[in-house]
Amino acid sequence: MTPPQSRTLLPMVGRTHGNRSPVTCHLRCGDACSVPAPNTTDTSYFRDIAATALSRRSVVATGVAAAALTAVTVTPTAAAPGAGSTAPGRPRKLPFTPIDPPARTLDAMRVPVGYRWDAIIRWGDPILPGAPAFDPANQSAEAQAKQFGYNNDYLDIIETGRSGTSALLVCNHEYTNENIMFPLGTPAETVIRTAMAAHGMSVVELTRRKRGDVWSYVPGARLNRRITTDTPFAVDGPAAGSDLLKTKADPTGRTVLGTLNNCAGGTTPWGTVLSGEENFNQYFKATGGASTTPEGRYGLGANGDARNWRSVDPRWDATTADYRNEPNRFGWIIEVDPSDPTSTPVKHTAMGRFKHEGANVIVNADGHVVAYMGDDERFDYVYRFISRDKMRPANSPKARKHNLSLMSEGDLSVARFTGDGLGDGVSDGTGEWIPLTKDGQSMVPGFTIEEVLVYTRLAADAVQPTKMDRPEDVEPSLRSGRIYVACTNNTARTTTDEANPRPANKDGHVVEMAPTNGDHTLDTFSWNLILICGDAASAGRYFGGWDGPVSPISCPDNVAFDSVGNLWVSTDGQPAAIALNDGLFKVPVDGPERGRVQQFLAVPAGAETCGPVIRDLEGSVFVAVQHPGEDGTFAAPQSRFPDYVPAGSTAGAGSFAGPRPSVVQVTRA
Ligand code: FEO
Ligand code: CA
Ligand code: CA
Repeated sequence: MTPPQSRTLLPMVGRTHGNRSPVTCHLRCGDACSVPAPNTTDTSYFRDIAATALSRRSVVATGVAAAALTAVTVTPTAAAPGAGSTAPGRPRKLPFTPIDPPARTLDAMRVPVGYRWDAIIRWGDPILPGAPAFDPANQSAEAQAKQFGYNNDYLDIIETGRSGTSALLVCNHEYTNENIMFPLGTPAETVIRTAMAAHGMSVVELTRRKRGDVWSYVPGARLNRRITTDTPFAVDGPAAGSDLLKTKADPTGRTVLGTLNNCAGGTTPWGTVLSGEENFNQYFKATGGASTTPEGRYGLGANGDARNWRSVDPRWDATTADYRNEPNRFGWIIEVDPSDPTSTPVKHTAMGRFKHEGANVIVNADGHVVAYMGDDERFDYVYRFISRDKMRPANSPKARKHNLSLMSEGDLSVARFTGDGLGDGVSDGTGEWIPLTKDGQSMVPGFTIEEVLVYTRLAADAVQPTKMDRPEDVEPSLRSGRIYVACTNNTARTTTDEANPRPANKDGHVVEMAPTNGDHTLDTFSWNLILICGDAASAGRYFGGWDGPVSPISCPDNVAFDSVGNLWVSTDGQPAAIALNDGLFKVPVDGPERGRVQQFLAVPAGAETCGPVIRDLEGSVFVAVQHPGEDGTFAAPQSRFPDYVPAGSTAGAGSFAGPRPSVVQVTRA
C-alpha cells in the first residue's frame, strides 16, 4: 500500500504554549505541551517543607571524585577531568568578548570577534563507503542510511591519538523535520523510510594537520558507522527477556531494532557513548489511557504518530496484540562503542525507562560509576544510577570488557529536593535519593523489578520525588564533583516549590547539586539554584550571586565544562521565550565571577544549540546546530545555513539552498 502523501503532517497553526514553534512541538516532542502533563500525582509538592539546611560550602568543599582514565582504543577526553588547571573562570586560549544576542529572525551564526565558524559535517554528507553525494531533490532511504543523519543533538569529538590529529565524531540524530527535508510530491513511503534512516546516530572519523586546526571528516573511513531504526540492539539488565518486552518479531524480548529520538548523552571513561531515547511515544499509535496507566504515563495515545510509520511497518501500531509491547522497547539509555563498527549497541534496562534526555557519568572515589539522568517532561524527575561493579582503571582488553558491562547492573534512585525556606533569599536546601532498585531487587512496594524498570515513571510516582521543570541535561563536573541540572522551562507550573520557584516558568533554571562528603553513592545531597534564567525584565532572575551585567539567557538545555571547570550552557527555546536566537553561554561556577553569564555564540534562525564540546586548551568550541529554519518549507526555506546558497542561485553538487543541521567548529580566526 502506498500511504497518502505526507504534507498533511502539521495540523497545528500559530504558536503553541509558551510561544514555541508548532513544528518543533509536533515533530520532536509529539506536542507534549499541548496535552496535559502525564504526571498527575500531587504528593511531592508537600515535600517542600523547611528543614535544617546543610551548609552548601561545607559539602562542596570535599572536592573531586572523578578518576582520570584512558580507554583502550580511544582517549575519552570528555569523560576525564579537565587538564591544565588555571584560575577559575579563565580558560586558556579561549578569551572572548560576549556577542550581542541576535534577534530570532537573523539567519546567521554569530561568534565572538576574532573567531570563525566552519560546518565540519552536515545532514546528507556521505560517510559510508558507496554513499552518494547529497541530492535533496532525490533522496532515498538507501542513500540516507549511508549519509550523516538529521537533527544532530548529542556530540562528542573523541581524540584517537596523542597528536590531536585524529578523532571520532559521535553524534545523535534526534528526529526529522519532514516539511523542510523533502520536496512536495515526494512519495509518502519514501519520506517515511528516508526519515527512519535519518534517525539514530553517526560515528565519523576526523582528521587534521595539527592540533587546533579545523577538523575534516573522512568519507568511507574504517570506523564510520550509521545507526538507524533498523540497527539491532541487545537488551541487557534485569528486564531483558521480560514478557513486557516481547513482541511477535522478538519473542525473546532481548533484541530491538533501532533507537529513537536520541537527544543528549555522555561519553564514558572506557570510550563508549551513552545516549538517551527521549520522546519515543510520538512514533506509535497506542491505546492510551489515564496518567496512572503505563501508556498514559508515557504520553502514548491514539493520535500521536503523525509520521504514520505504521503504514509501512506494523510494529509501530501498539494497538495490536503482536506489538503492544513495542513502545516498551524504547525510552532507554543506549550504549555504543564507537571504536568498533561491528559491535552491537546495548539498551540498558537497569537504568530505567522514561523520556531520557541523556546520561552523564562520574567515577566515584570507590570506583563505582555513577550516572545522572533527567526525564525531560514537565513535572518529571531527576534520576541516579550506581553501577553494581567497580570500574577497572586498566588498559587491558580484559578490563575494558569488564567496564563495558558496568551499566548493565546497578541501583536506580530518584531525587527529592527539600527547600530550607526562601527567608535566606536563595533557593537552596537538601535532598535525598529515594531507592527504586537495590541489589537487583525492587524497592517499590507493588512493583516487580521488571515493572520498576519498564514503567519507571509509575514506580517513581509511588515514592514521591520532586516534580521538576523539565530536567534536561544532568551532568557532574569532573573537577568539582558537583552536578548541574538544566531545567529548561515549564509554563504549566502553578504550584511552586523552592527547587522550581517560578510559576509559568518560561525561562528555566539550573540546579547545582553537591553530594554529601563528595560521595556520589550516599543518599543525601545539598543543592541550590545557580541560575534562574531570563532576560533583563524577567521576574526572579538570579545569577549565582553575580550582580554585574549578564547576557540574557533562557531555556537551558545542554551543559558542558571547560578545562578549568566553567559551566557552559546551550539553550533551546530562546526564540519563543525572549525573541532571541538560541546560543551558547559560559558561566563560572567558582570564584568572584560565579554566575556571570556571557554569550559565546548564537545559532541561525529556527535552530537550537546542542551538544556543546569545549576544547579551550586548543581554542575550539563545537556545537550541533539542530533544526535550523524549522518553520519553513522545502520550497520556501527560512534558513539557508550552512551552505548559504544565494536565493535564486542553483546549489552546486552536494550543496543545498535550504537548511541543513550541521556540526560547527568555532576557532580563532
Ligand atoms: Fe530533546 Fe529534552 O530535548
Ligand atoms: Ca533557601
Ligand atoms: Ca535536549
